[in-house]
Formats: sequence, structure tokens, C-alpha cells
Amino acid sequence: MGDYTNMSAYYDVIMTSGYYDYKSIVDNLLEHEPYNHVLEIGCGTGLILEELAKRKHVQSIMGIDLTQSMLTIANARLKDFPNVTLSNQNITQLKLEKQYDLVFSYGGVWYFVVDGDNEPFLVSHISDPAANEQGFEHLSKYMSVGSTLLLGIQGPHFDYEKAISNGMTYSQKIDPCEDGFIKHYYLADKGHNLMAQTVQYRTYDFNKARGLLGRYGFEYQLESHKNKLFVRFKKIS
Ligand SMILES: C[S@@+](CC[C@H](N)C(=O)[O-])C[C@H]1O[C@@H](n2cnc3c(N)ncnc32)[C@H](O)[C@@H]1O
Repeated sequence: MGDYTNMSAYYDVIMTSGYYDYKSIVDNLLEHEPYNHVLEIGCGTGLILEELAKRKHVQSIMGIDLTQSMLTIANARLKDFPNVTLSNQNITQLKLEKQYDLVFSYGGVWYFVVDGDNEPFLVSHISDPAANEQGFEHLSKYMSVGSTLLLGIQGPHFDYEKAISNGMTYSQKIDPCEDGFIKHYYLADKGHNLMAQTVQYRTYDFNKARGLLGRYGFEYQLESHKNKLFVRFKKIS
């Protein structure tokens, strides 16, 4: 399952070196107003939630994540926002106290890969199919009818190596496997290996993804993905 413990100490420096564009992610979230209760699944170190909380007052914001060391960083980052709550949870066992009207995941538990004109496919940090069903089943309980689920869009993954802002070298390697791929993440400083992490991802083609989400009341909202950072689903039952 997508545990990020090894990467957590280096996560922020890798991500803020251009891996994700947090300002644009929040620009996209703000297009879905109005909403009062927002949930991020797989919030990591809280980089998106911080940008959102700074830019917009939302009544309540909740972030859940499986990896405690990521949440420890998020807690420190978000301590001055009384409307933000964080919770160490696996989506497959999700337990919350209320329903949310906007739920999103960007590179978190689930995301879509859009590769040119090819059909988007769903990528899950959860490799077991039954656990993916459980994840959506649990999530659906905490989303009101009419609420919105946004799953982030990423470009295709490929092997590369690049220097990040502190001079270290980040690299990733993708190995296809049955029903998905295995992604290896590495961080090195002057040839010395600092961090290695491996995550096994499950993939679903677009029809299977729609079927999976549809079983839990999520309806795909057909729209162009051009300049969009999220695929949108509406909770209809
Ligand atoms: C690539 S990080 C994304 C973090 C954040 N959304 C961001 O944009 O920086 C993926 C996060 O998803 C979390 N995650 C993976 N599987 C999960 C699960 N089953 N339940 C909850 N969180 C999960 C990991 O712990 C990790 O912090």
C-alpha cells in the first residue's frame, strides 16, 4: 500500500522543485466553488491544503493520509489554521464525523493519467482491487448527494533523473507489472544515495474506472480535460 515514510523528509524539496504546481492546483479547486466542507484524500505534507487555506476561507477542511511522518510535517505547516484538521487514516477504513461537499485527491490515493488524445486511465496507490472497492465504498458514505469528487490529472510517467533546487538529484524508474506498474523513487546527494522508495500502483482503463466509481454513486462529468488538473465526478446517489 502507498506508504511514503521513506520519502517524507525529502518530499517538500522534491515537490516544490517543480514536480507539482500548487498554485494552479488551487486555482482549479477554486473553480468549483461554492463549498463549505472540503476533504483531501492523501494530503501528504499539506502543501495543497496550505495554499487553499491561505487563499480562501473554507468553513472546514479535512486532510487524511496513511503515512504518519507526512502528516507530522502537515500538522506543523497548518497549525495556524483552526479550520484545518488532519487525520492519520487509510481510505479503505475511512471514518469521519460528517459529510463533505468537495473531495479531491491530487497525486494522493487515486489520480488519472492523461497522455495526449489517449483515453485517461486511473492510477491507484492501492494495488489490491478489493481494497480499491472498499476505499470508494467508505469515501461515498462521507459525500452528500450532489457533492463533487475531483481526481487529479497527471501526465504519463517515465524514467528520468533531474537536479532539484537544493542540488540533490531526484530520479524515478517505472517498471510495468501485471495490472499496473511499480515506481521506484530515488534521491541522491553527490552520488550518495539518501532515499529510495518503491510503490506498486494499480491501473484501470477508463471504462473500468467509471464502473468502479459508478458502483459507489460517482458519475463521471464529461468535459474537456484541456487546461484542467482534475477529472470531475458527481455523487448522484
Ligand atoms: C504523492 S503524495 C501526494 C501528497 C499531496 N496530495 C501533494 O499533492 O503533495 C501521495 C500521498 O498519498 C498517501 N496515500 C497513499 N495511499 C493511501 C491510502 N490508502 N490512504 C490514505 N492515504 C494514502 C501517501 O501516504 C502520500 O502521502
